[in-house]
Amino acid sequence: MSQKSDKERIEQELARYMENSDSYNARVWEAMAYSLLAGGKRVRPLLLLWTGRSLGAEEAELLPFACALEMIHTYSLIHDDLPAMDDDDYRRGRLTNHKVFGEGMAVLAGDGLLNYAFEVMGNAMLQESGAAGSEALGRKAQAMAYLARCAGPSGMIGGQAVDLLSEGKSVEPEVLEYIEFNKTSRLLSAALVGGAMLAGADEAVIGQMQAAGGATGKAFQIWDDVLDVEGSLAEMGKQPQHDSAHQKTTFISVYGLGKAKEEARKQTELALESLKGLPGVYGDQVRELVSSLVHRRN
Ligand code: IPE
Ligand code: IPE
Ligand code: MG
Ligand code: MG
Ligand code: MG
Repeated sequence: MSQKSDKERIEQELARYMENSDSYNARVWEAMAYSLLAGGKRVRPLLLLWTGRSLGAEEAELLPFACALEMIHTYSLIHDDLPAMDDDDYRRGRLTNHKVFGEGMAVLAGDGLLNYAFEVMGNAMLQESGAAGSEALGRKAQAMAYLARCAGPSGMIGGQAVDLLSEGKSVEPEVLEYIEFNKTSRLLSAALVGGAMLAGADEAVIGQMQAAGGATGKAFQIWDDVLDVEGSLAEMGKQPQHDSAHQKTTFISVYGLGKAKEEARKQTELALESLKGLPGVYGDQVRELVSSLVHRRN
């Protein structure tokens, strides 16, 4: 299946998950859907889907986890944009969630997406039954626990916390490393490793995917920082020149723009090295997507 139709498939599934007929809480579903269905790049669900397929898993096993990961990522963006955090006005080409729905509802929309992600994964686990099912159930439990670890206080939330604490400060290189690794690499690892776990991959492959996720995430975040300097609102759907205005600690603030571009390419090479064993056409698609991330304009 082509990249385009897989992305469409993910869009379709996400939209389906947002079809809810609740009553007085309709506004919070609306706020969740507003950000989730605003057309992000869908890098994480595509990587999960293709890694899983490359290693032999079926689409039906992978899609709920791919969608759940995108919900977790979207919640992290809604909260990242809040005035108490990065205070941004635009995201995915539209006004940020809190600009439209208010801060309280934006907090709840983020919380809603985070919890709903675990409901979706839990329901996927409940579908497994019988002897074959118990193996599949084990794989899904392993993937869910891994996603939770990557997204939580020892992962993305930890990175976001140190990102906030480092605003306006000059920090040690290890602290910068901690921020980048956790705020961004962890959800990309969740995609690659999660896909591998759902396919029942062995420890060696999982280790490779972990290494690939770390390097992909570093390249991804450094390129995000480059775009913050060189990109435009029209291209990215979010305001550029934000990091310097908010005295953010980034690879660029510590090492400069030239070194940042060099490092993004180096990390991409490292990622591709770790991904070289992924078989078949879906392995190729994973590698192509990872390579393209340091040329992206959004
Ligand atoms: C933005 O993520 C936040 C970072 C980790 C840099 P993406 O660049 O994947 O954003 P969307 O999902 O395409 O909107
Ligand atoms: C955010 O990093 C990473 C998240 C976990 C949301 P940034 O704050 O640089 O992301 P953007 O530039 O707002 O998308
Ligand atoms: Mg931020
Ligand atoms: Mg931000
Ligand atoms: Mg940024």
